Amino acid sequence: MRVFLKRFLILLLVLFILIQFYPRAEKNSSSAISSADISAKYNVPAEVKNILAVACNDCHSNNTNYPWYSNIQPVRLWLDDHIEDGKTDLNFSSFLSYPPRKQYHKLDEIIELVEKDEMPLASYTIIHRDAKLSASQKKALTDWAQGIRTQMESSYPIDSLVRKKK
Ligand code: HEC
Repeated sequence: MRVFLKRFLILLLVLFILIQFYPRAEKNSSSAISSADISAKYNVPAEVKNILAVACNDCHSNNTNYPWYSNIQPVRLWLDDHIEDGKTDLNFSSFLSYPPRKQYHKLDEIIELVEKDEMPLASYTIIHRDAKLSASQKKALTDWAQGIRTQMESSYPIDSLVRKKK
């Protein structure tokens, strides 16, 4: 039994070393603010900017902060996957490149998911304790998103924001 355990641990160690050579996606950590960034058009007050930076931008912008353990596999694979999925659904760095209807809808999704505590992901707040939003932070974030929606309603015809019901 002990021989088996020893071999098993050695096997694990070998696998752990081998997986370190697995190719990593290029880092998603541009420091530039893109011209399609949401803040290029819409006002992002300092408090909201801070909430986004601490709780959302690692997965929903081009400015991910990589922790030291992101260099270890398979952690990096897992992070790259989240970043890829998160950015596909919502990227604050390219928000203004979305058509108005999509922007309007994403803002609604933000409100809904933040109110339901579905974002930021629980697997993220376990490690990033400061990303767990307080009631007042949630309110600041959802009020902000709602404010932009209201602003959009006054600058776009409503049927360019909401698909007409058939
Ligand atoms: C650890 C990465 C991570 C963090 C941090 C994170 N998200 Fe997400 N988010 C995702 C992933 C991945 C998805 C894709 C859907 C899924 O797999 O659940 C997603 C989906 C979404 C969607 C859905 C978009 C759509 O159209 O369906 C919204 C809105 C959203 N996130 C908002 C936020 C907000 C706001 C924050 C910060 C308060 C945040 N997220 C923090 C990873 C993250």
